[in-house]
This record gives sequence, C-alpha cells and structure tokens, in this order.
Amino acid sequence: MKKACVIGYPISHSLSPTIHNYWLKKYNIEGEYTAVEVKPEELENFILKLDKNGYRGCNITLPHKERAFEIVSKNTKVVNTEDEYLPSQVARFMGAVNTIVVDENKNLVATNTDFLGFARNLIENAPDFDYQRSVALILGAGGAGKAIAFALASMQIAGLVITNRTREKAEEIRNIMINNFSFPADNIQVVDWEMREDVLPHCNIVVNTTSLGMVKKMEVGSGKLEEKNTSNFKPQTSNYINLSKLYPNSLVTDIVYNPLETNLLKQAKELGHITVDGLGMLLHQAAPGFEGWFGKKPVVDRELREAVLQKFKA
Ligand code: ATR
Repeated sequence: MKKACVIGYPISHSLSPTIHNYWLKKYNIEGEYTAVEVKPEELENFILKLDKNGYRGCNITLPHKERAFEIVSKNTKVVNTEDEYLPSQVARFMGAVNTIVVDENKNLVATNTDFLGFARNLIENAPDFDYQRSVALILGAGGAGKAIAFALASMQIAGLVITNRTREKAEEIRNIMINNFSFPADNIQVVDWEMREDVLPHCNIVVNTTSLGMVKKMEVGSGKLEEKNTSNFKPQTSNYINLSKLYPNSLVTDIVYNPLETNLLKQAKELGHITVDGLGMLLHQAAPGFEGWFGKKPVVDRELREAVLQKFKA
C-alpha cells in the first residue's frame, strides 16, 4: 500500500486528506493519505524516517514549512519536481517547503508547490489573459505573497507592484526577485500600504495574498482550515481596497477561498473585471505531491471542488 500524509501542529482540520483521498478513489489507486500531528521537536525525526515508516512522502503545513526546508537542505538536495514554470531553486528562494517526495534512491526531494498552484489556477480560469503585457499589484508580503511574486514572474509578467502593511517585507521580496531571480529592477516597485489605491490606474491584475477577507483565519496555501490563535480574530468584512480606479477589464484574484466569493471579488465583478477565486490554488498545489507519491498526474475537476466545498459547510 502506497502511503503519504500531511504533517502539521495542530493538524485536525487539514483539507489535504479530502483532496488526496478523492484522487485515490477516482484513480482506483490502492493508497492511503492521512493527517499526522507532528510536534516541532519530532519534526526532524519524522522527516528523516519517512521511508523507514513506509511513507512515500508528505505535505508540510503550519508551523513546519521553514524548519522542514532547513532539515531537507541539510540532509539532501532541494529540487523542484516540476520545471514547467520555474527553475529548481524555488524552494530555496521561498525558504520553505510544502511537499516532500522520497525518490527511488531514497532521497528526499523537497519543493514548494504554492507558486505552481497559483499559476495553474490563473491559467486554467483566465487562459486568454495577456499576462506577459500586464502589471500586477500584489497586496501582502508574507509567505503567500512571496510565492505569488515568483509565480507571476514565472508567467513572464511585465511588471510587479508590491504593497504591504509592513513595508520592509515587501522590500525583501523585491530584493530577492532582483538578486536571485533576475527580475528587472525597474519593473518591480514597492509602494506604501496607504498608497495602494493610487497605483491602481497603472495595474491590470490585483492579487490579494493577505488574510483580509477571510471568514476566519486559516492557512491559505496548503489547505488548512485550522484557526490559529484566533480568540481575538475579527472577521474582515469591509472593503480594504476600493477598486474604482483600477484599469478597465482587469483580472482580480484572491488567495482567500473561504468565503469563495470574497468582498474583493464581489467588488471586482460588479465593476466588470475578470475574477478568479482562490480554491483552485489550493487544489492545484496538491497535484505535484500526488503524482510523486502515487504515480498518477491528477486532474483538478469540478467534483473535487465540490468535495472540498462540502468540507467548509460541514
Ligand atoms: P502567509 O504566510 O499565509 O502569507 P503571513 O506571513 O502571516 O501569512 O502574512 C499575512 C499577510 O497578511 C501579511 O502580508 C500581513 O501584513 P504584515 O506583513 O504587515 O503583517 C497581511 N495582513 C494581515 N492582517 C492585516 C491587516 N489587518 N491589514 C493589512 N495587512 C494585513
């Protein structure tokens, strides 16, 4: 029996088992995908013993992604399982991994598939958009913001504007993009969070990578609905950006998928822009791991979306 899992701490509400078990059933593969709670102090041992314990690999979620990167970097090579959009250094640039595959030589092949999930979601849902002649405004500069800057660069976007409440984090992404990714310095700008609406006339893509707009705080990239220290978390329902100055017929996307139609997307739709919701990113980021562990390239289809949406309602 082929075995894989998602590890995190805590882990109980992960959506990854729903996704992978849907595919295992659909493709009639004799396999198992479970959620395993791994405490920080157990992480290194768990990762290094994946093969010994019968696992073909795992997904990694909060709070382990950065530490897991250090562990695999120390013990094996970090490569990208898919070179379709980016060179193999993506996990290194991210400093975080979300997928490990034990290869036939028992090497740990680790990668970060969030950028791929984002790119594929856009290409699937807005295939005719002219990305190469577009300028994107990225709201937020956390781990997801970084993945999305890489994703858009890999789609050969013409220009990037990054804005974040904490400006230094946006500057850091800009520096990495220029120094490690050869993105032209003149084509990537950082603007103060307070100025985010002023740049809209020059942008034709807007991406929300912040947690603003979620019904409750949850990890976005790797499918976890767990509330994290949320006793004082207030749902953000108001519009944190007014899109009225945005270039006409733009593309607006949100990595928040609960609710599926965020206020940002609702506003964009009313103004006649193209919108893409964030659920596809979650589904597409799971695909490379499944292929690595179970040997089948899975398809993200409508039934899978429905199965995951049912989980929100449960
Ligand atoms: P992730 O790794 O999922 O991106 P994160 O690193 O916690 O999560 O980043 C969350 C993002 O949402 C950050 O860009 C954060 O801004 P700061 O870097 O200034 O913290 C942004 N964010 C969260 N709450 C916000 C708020 N109330 N207003 C503006 N930005 C907010």
